[in-house]
Amino acid sequence: MTWWRDAVIYQVYVWSFADSNGDGIGDLPGVRSRLPYLRSLGVDAVWLNPFYPSPQADNGYDVADHRDVDPRFGTLADAEALIEDAHRLGLRVILDLVPNHTSDRHPWFRAALDTPPGSRERARYLFRDGPRSDQPPNNWISAFGGRAWSRAGGQWYLHLFAPEQPDLDWTNDEVRAEFRDILRFWFDRGADGFRVDVAHGLAKDPQMPDVDSLTTGAAPEGHPHWDLDEVHDVYREWRALADAYPGERVFVGEIWVQSPERLARYLRPDELHTAFNFTFLSATWTAEALRTAIDESLRSLRAVGAPATWVLSNHDVTRHVTRYGGGEAGVRRARAAALLMLALPGGAYVYQGEELGLPEVLDLPDEARRDPTFFRSGGTDPGRDGCRVPLPWSGESPSYGFGPGEKSWLPQPDQWAGLTVERQSDDPESMLRLYRAALRQRRLLPALGDGEMEWIPAAPGVLAFRREPGFVCMVNVGDSPAPLPVDLSVVLASSPFDGPLLPGATAVWFRS
Ligand code: NOJ
Ligand code: CA
Repeated sequence: MTWWRDAVIYQVYVWSFADSNGDGIGDLPGVRSRLPYLRSLGVDAVWLNPFYPSPQADNGYDVADHRDVDPRFGTLADAEALIEDAHRLGLRVILDLVPNHTSDRHPWFRAALDTPPGSRERARYLFRDGPRSDQPPNNWISAFGGRAWSRAGGQWYLHLFAPEQPDLDWTNDEVRAEFRDILRFWFDRGADGFRVDVAHGLAKDPQMPDVDSLTTGAAPEGHPHWDLDEVHDVYREWRALADAYPGERVFVGEIWVQSPERLARYLRPDELHTAFNFTFLSATWTAEALRTAIDESLRSLRAVGAPATWVLSNHDVTRHVTRYGGGEAGVRRARAAALLMLALPGGAYVYQGEELGLPEVLDLPDEARRDPTFFRSGGTDPGRDGCRVPLPWSGESPSYGFGPGEKSWLPQPDQWAGLTVERQSDDPESMLRLYRAALRQRRLLPALGDGEMEWIPAAPGVLAFRREPGFVCMVNVGDSPAPLPVDLSVVLASSPFDGPLLPGATAVWFRS
């Protein structure tokens, strides 16, 4: 059995996980000090968001050096020690690889600007001459708002994200060789795998035609820069490279495409191992939407033999407590969603703080915000800072044990005193205790993890499925109480109940 087919992987957003030196920014020594917490939570691995040297125009997704650590976060020795400590505790480590673009401070981009148009240095990026110096080569737009072209060195260069993130040209052999080398650099240091940023974006139509529909969402087929067939060559090459290492090194793709079928193409046996299931993440809280997302995903993945990788939240989306309605109702649904996700066939990602039931922080003051989405949209899109607020660990006042002092780079709400790890550890009804119990049961119950599931008939608004041997999960997604099965014993419930009916927004795990 390969470990990654049903691993539960905890996403550490390094900026906001734990701060060792009190500067208000999370760091690698901070992560190291909290590894025992992750171990006792019961996850199998951690994924670390980018910690490489970076001007931080997009919180580390603008990489200036792929083989080192940003001094804000520590040193290369800290990264090596972190991998070693994690392994000692039985945790695997996934790093973040950002191949679509570099920082505009990367030596390659500086060299491109120091050389004339047509140079070998410029050929690593996507420089073009537009019709005029005030008219870009085409109408492509940046995922962060505004146009996808900026001017430098007398030409236009493409950036599907911020101007500080120039896109690389993946038809260029030097680019391909460089990333093979980066993979080897970290594999040699013990990394167990990579999360691949914007994995559907590397290839661009060389003709660079205008796009018909200007959308930043999942792109339709035939789009000139999302989900082109040519990206698959890159992943075949990487898969062969990873397979040459011992210990099953893996890739998980960040892939926003229009259908589960398109997603599955990235997970053919000689490509990436897994990909985040954003169909599930995007499903609304209705039995129908969830069931469709689950069915379509499993059907397309089965065709390529890949496991599902469920996810409810990450550093780019509104936290699911809030997405599901917020307040008590949002928390109640999030508890049920956790039991649903962890009972489904395959693996799962847990975004830091979801095990504490953290809501999105909606009322950050404008001057605290950092996300380029907020600035590039002229403030009309609040951006992603609200899901990136530093974790509350302990104590009654900020920074709630995030660091040794009061500082945190984004302000934490006062109510978070009630959501700290310390408080929740002592409260058997807490979200944290639910996650711990579910992850423990996941190890104990042979039916859970990789494998198959079978729906069983249930009342409207209710999802119920069986997994062998002897496991049933029932989720009342709706609001009205629903009849419970007889002859099954409860292993775990997302909210307490007694009597013959399952209350709304409640999930239960049963053993038969
Ligand atoms: C996806 C990352 O998750 C997001 O945080 C980042 O802004 C973009 N890719 C660009 O790298
Ligand atoms: Ca720090």
